[in-house]
Amino acid sequence: MSSNESASASHTGLIVRETRPPNLESPFELLEGLLTPNHLFYVRNHFPVPQFDARTHRVYLSGAVRNPFTIAYEELRAMPSETRTATLECAGNGRVFLLPPADGVQWQLGAVGTAEWTGVPLSALLQRATPDEQASEIVFEGADKGIPKEKPVPPGEVIYARSISLSKASDVLIAWAMNGKDLSPDHGYPLRALVSGHYGMASVKWLSAIRVTARPFQGYFQTTDYAWWKENGDSNPERVPLGEMSLKSQIARPKINEIIAANSRYTVIGAAWSASHVDSVEFSDDDGQTWHEAQFLDPAHPGVWRRWQFDWQVPSTPGQRALRSRSRDSEGNLQPNQHDARFGSYVIHHVLPVRVIIKDL
Ligand code: MTE
Repeated sequence: MSSNESASASHTGLIVRETRPPNLESPFELLEGLLTPNHLFYVRNHFPVPQFDARTHRVYLSGAVRNPFTIAYEELRAMPSETRTATLECAGNGRVFLLPPADGVQWQLGAVGTAEWTGVPLSALLQRATPDEQASEIVFEGADKGIPKEKPVPPGEVIYARSISLSKASDVLIAWAMNGKDLSPDHGYPLRALVSGHYGMASVKWLSAIRVTARPFQGYFQTTDYAWWKENGDSNPERVPLGEMSLKSQIARPKINEIIAANSRYTVIGAAWSASHVDSVEFSDDDGQTWHEAQFLDPAHPGVWRRWQFDWQVPSTPGQRALRSRSRDSEGNLQPNQHDARFGSYVIHHVLPVRVIIKDL
C-alpha cells in the first residue's frame, strides 16, 4: 500500500480547498441531473489516500459475533448486490458562511453530491457473522491513519473510524461502485461503507475492518471530531456523535455575486434534502419578507436530494439583492434562520442569503 497525497490533474473541475491531503469541493452552480458526475463529486479526506491492490484486499468482520470471518474483495463482489441512490453531505458543508469564522476546511455550497452506490447490504454480512446478545454498535475502520489537524490533537496517529448503532445496519451498503463505475481512490477504492441519510463522516472509505461492539465506540472521529454538545438541562452536556443529515436547501443558480439583467426572467435552480422526506421549498428575493413556492424536479425519497426550480421575475430596480430558499419536511419542520451553536462548525443548515447584483444590461 503506498500513498498519493496531493490534488492532481485528475481533479480538474473541482475547487481545491486543500492539497495535502486533497479536499475538493464540487462547483454546486453546475448542478444538472439528479446524480452528480463522479469527476465533480466532492472529496473529503483527513489523511493521505491509501492505494490498494483490490485482488489482495480483505475485510475483517469481528467482535461481538458468533462467527468472525475475513472476506476477500472478489468474494464480496460475487455476492448479491443492491444499488441505492443517496445524497452524501459533509457535516461541514457551508462552514465558510459561519460568523465568527470557524477553523476547518472552508467549504462553500459544494461539499454535497448525490450518487447511485452499488454494493452488498451490511445485513447480509451480519447474518453470516451473527451478532451476539451484547452487540450494540458496528465500527467501520478505514485503512488511512495520521495525526488529525483538528484540536485537541491526540498524542499519536489515529485510524479513521466511525460507528453506527446496530439498529441502523439496514441503512448501510458495503459499496464498490459509484454511478456504475468502480470507486476511485479518492472515494474509497476498493470498498467503502455507505450509510444512507447520515452526514458523510459515517460512510467510511477504504474499508478494512468491521467490528461489532458491545459498548458505544469512543474513537476520535466519533467523540472529539464530528460530535456535538447535547444539553440535558443540568449544565452537564454530553458529547454525542453527529448522525443524520438535517433539513437543508441550497440555491445553485444564480451563484453568489452573479450579475443578472434587471426585469428579465431567471430560472432559479437548487436542491433540498434531509434524512426524511422534503415536502416543500420556498424562494424569497426580499430578505425573507415574502416566500414563493418552488417546483420540484425530483420525487421525494428520504436521504436523496430533490432538485427544485423557481421561475423568477427579476426586479427592474438595479442593485444588490439577497436571495434565499427554505425547505420544509414531512413532519412540518422548517429550515432554521440561525446556526445552532451546539453543533460548532458542523450541521450548517440554516437559511443562507445568496447575494446577486441586478443591473440594466
Ligand atoms: N473515510 C476515511 N477512511 N477517511 C476519511 O477521511 N472522510 C469522511 C468520509 N469517510 C473519510 C472517510 C467524510 S468527513 C466525508 S464527508 C466523506 O467520507 C466524504 O466522502 P467522499 O470523499 O467520497 O465525498
